[in-house]
Amino acid sequence: MAAKIFMDMPGGLKMPAIGLGTWQATDEAELESALDAALEIGYRHIDTAFVYQNEAVIGRVLQKWFKFGKLNREDLFITTKLPMPGIHQDRVEMFMKKSLENLQLDYVDLYLIHFAVGTKYVENQARPSPDSLQTVPTDHVAIWKKMEEQVDAGRTKTIGLSNFNVKQIDRILKSARIKPACLQVELHVYLQQRELVNFCHQNGIVVVAYSPLGSPGYNKFIAQFGKEARKLPDMLHDETIKKIATKHKKSNAQVMLRYLLQRSIVAIPKSVTPARLKENIDVFDFSLDAEDMKALDNLEVGEQARVCDFKVFPGLLDHPEFPFSK
Ligand SMILES: NC(=O)c1ccc[n+]([C@@H]2O[C@H](COP(=O)([O-])OP(=O)(O)OC[C@H]3O[C@@H](n4cnc5c(N)ncnc54)[C@H](OP(=O)(O)O)[C@@H]3O)[C@@H](O)[C@H]2O)c1
Repeated sequence: MAAKIFMDMPGGLKMPAIGLGTWQATDEAELESALDAALEIGYRHIDTAFVYQNEAVIGRVLQKWFKFGKLNREDLFITTKLPMPGIHQDRVEMFMKKSLENLQLDYVDLYLIHFAVGTKYVENQARPSPDSLQTVPTDHVAIWKKMEEQVDAGRTKTIGLSNFNVKQIDRILKSARIKPACLQVELHVYLQQRELVNFCHQNGIVVVAYSPLGSPGYNKFIAQFGKEARKLPDMLHDETIKKIATKHKKSNAQVMLRYLLQRSIVAIPKSVTPARLKENIDVFDFSLDAEDMKALDNLEVGEQARVCDFKVFPGLLDHPEFPFSK
């Protein structure tokens, strides 16, 4: 069964079907060595966000690679995201410029609205804290016009959405001059997002799966907010996946990623561990057959398996644009 190595984007741009996730990769030395290892192995697609607070490290490592002539800017596909305090028509350009400055780049390949709800902007605050989090009215159509201006200004090649639902994407499609090129959402074997994926594919929108391995590091993230660890869906030890993995002499992670590729979905697994970086991109030399795909389809749990539910930010749940079911 086919799995594309690149996904076609507007303007002839090609998004590598496996990218490197970098959320929670903030230790400078660890991230630098992970990026060096990833680029050596062949990763050419990096996913970051203003809120991850690691754009500057990524920028520094990329400059090093450019300086030594090991890579050219055009070899890479770089995605970053408009943070929640920037999700307002008055703040898109400012945050876009901040990200470019951090990344030491003239342009990114893809700029995403990180979430469907904006929060209050407090100067010099990099990320919303539970205490200060206050949502603001969020006018997607007005914000999208500002996103389009970033393409016009050459600051990004394409623009897209993250954590938007069908209704919200449809509303933007109806007024857009430049269509969203991509939707990035949580997507894995237990949360298959079929309606959303079909809608995007019918509208020529590339779907990128975040937390494709089920985000096993998520509890570390919520601990910062004083939240207790949650029981997370554990696909890395799922017996059905294990059986398929054994049959193909691959790991559970590789089967989970390959499953997404065969559904024409891009995956951006995060790792700072060289052996795992290698494992996660080594998914182009085997195919899942129809029986494997069916068994994996049947593992769908749905909404209950969502890991990144954004419920650590209680103010969001009551906002009219909160994109997930409560
Ligand atoms: N748009 C959004 O709102 C949003 C939300 C969440 C994530 N994302 C993006 O999507 C990326 C991926 O999602 P994620 O970080 O939530 O979760 P993930 O990629 O599903 O899982 C990452 C975790 O799995 C571990 N891991 C990686 N490869 C493994 C393997 N082969 N075997 C066993 N464990 C493995 C990593 O550990 P080590 O690093 O220690 O190896 C890390 O703890 C993020 O990094 C970010 O770029 C976007």
